[in-house]
Amino acid sequence: MIATATAGACDGYYDALATCLERDGYCLLSEGLPEDMLAALYRRVGPQSDLDFRRAGVGRDNSFRFNSRLRTDRIHWLSHAHSAESAYLSSMEELRLALNQRLFLGLFEFESHFARYEPGGFYKKHLDAFAGKTNRILSTVLYLNPGWQKEWGGELVMYRDFNDEIIERIVPDYGRLLLFFSERFPHEVCPASQPRYSIAGWFKVNQPVFIPGAALGRH
Ligand code: OGA
Ligand code: MN
Repeated sequence: MIATATAGACDGYYDALATCLERDGYCLLSEGLPEDMLAALYRRVGPQSDLDFRRAGVGRDNSFRFNSRLRTDRIHWLSHAHSAESAYLSSMEELRLALNQRLFLGLFEFESHFARYEPGGFYKKHLDAFAGKTNRILSTVLYLNPGWQKEWGGELVMYRDFNDEIIERIVPDYGRLLLFFSERFPHEVCPASQPRYSIAGWFKVNQPVFIPGAALGRH
């Protein structure tokens, strides 16, 4: 719907999303993107993919390191060089503008990567952003797992702040798009018995921001 709906329908859709983000800090959309876009993205990341996937790391630039105790996924960054990736990036661009209009977030750009978790793979509890240290504001995850069975595991568990209180267990069903404020929700990817595919992405501002009173991050 994001990419293809008429302006009127789109406005309503974005209004609802903005209201949900403002109220809860996160929002799970089940019918966000057109079928053909999802199918093309699945061909790119799924079992038939011929892409080169690299081990994901933790941290940036000088502090970048591999940490297989924290995460085991393999990733491939999206670019406009490929049509399916470009289509997704364009719909996220539309979303960026719509959210800036409604929530005045000053989102400046979007970066995202495919992620493949082999059976048993995980990403331990972490935050995507640390107060004052990052320009990541809003996290997104699009799930690309056709026919996923709940018993296979692989949920994304979202926690409220730093308590162990669980607020959501999200099954990585095909086409689901999750958005949440990057500094607010520690989360983890549980191991699954099957390969698990997704696109993780982040809307960023131009400069790191410090939000007074925001929780201090830790893994
Ligand atoms: C991440 C992440 C969640 C998921 O890549 O930072 O938390 O469900 N991914 O794949
Ligand atoms: Mn994360």
